[in-house]
Amino acid sequence: MLPKKLEAALNEQVNAELYSAYLYLSMSSWFESKNLKGFANWMRIQYQEETAHAMKFFDYINERGGTAVLKAIDAPKGKWKTVIEIFQETLKHELHVTSLINNLVNVSISEKDHATNNFLQWFVSEQVEEEANVTGILEELKMIEGKGPALFMIDRELKQRVFVPITPAGA
Ligand code: FEO
Repeated sequence: MLPKKLEAALNEQVNAELYSAYLYLSMSSWFESKNLKGFANWMRIQYQEETAHAMKFFDYINERGGTAVLKAIDAPKGKWKTVIEIFQETLKHELHVTSLINNLVNVSISEKDHATNNFLQWFVSEQVEEEANVTGILEELKMIEGKGPALFMIDRELKQRVFVPITPAGA
């Protein structure tokens, strides 16, 4: 049985992951409006990944005898000035998500719930990957000052990204 405090904290994370999905979908739309189809694709896949993260928490809560409860999702920002700004914000957001995951791990330890601690380790690793991916793109963008023909080369590269489904909780 899931401790109540942990159930509430995991439910907050369902909302946080859905907000991340919303934010990246909004960023995807901004890139579409700038005709940067590869960046738009990359952000759309971020959206799909975040939705999958939310569902992983959703399924886990229910699997452990809790109830996943859906709350209102905040409206994301819709306008940015530059490609660099959008990726700086993406990195800032992922660092925030990492701190949320770390806090959840802390709650699982204080509640002595080893199963949840084990479940959360997947997200601990995922955040390392997320931060590295975003940092990599941001560094490339800074190198080219976010403009010029090289921007279109990065755009073409990001068009290649495909969504890879994650394994469901408990699988
Ligand atoms: Fe669900 Fe981008 O972390």
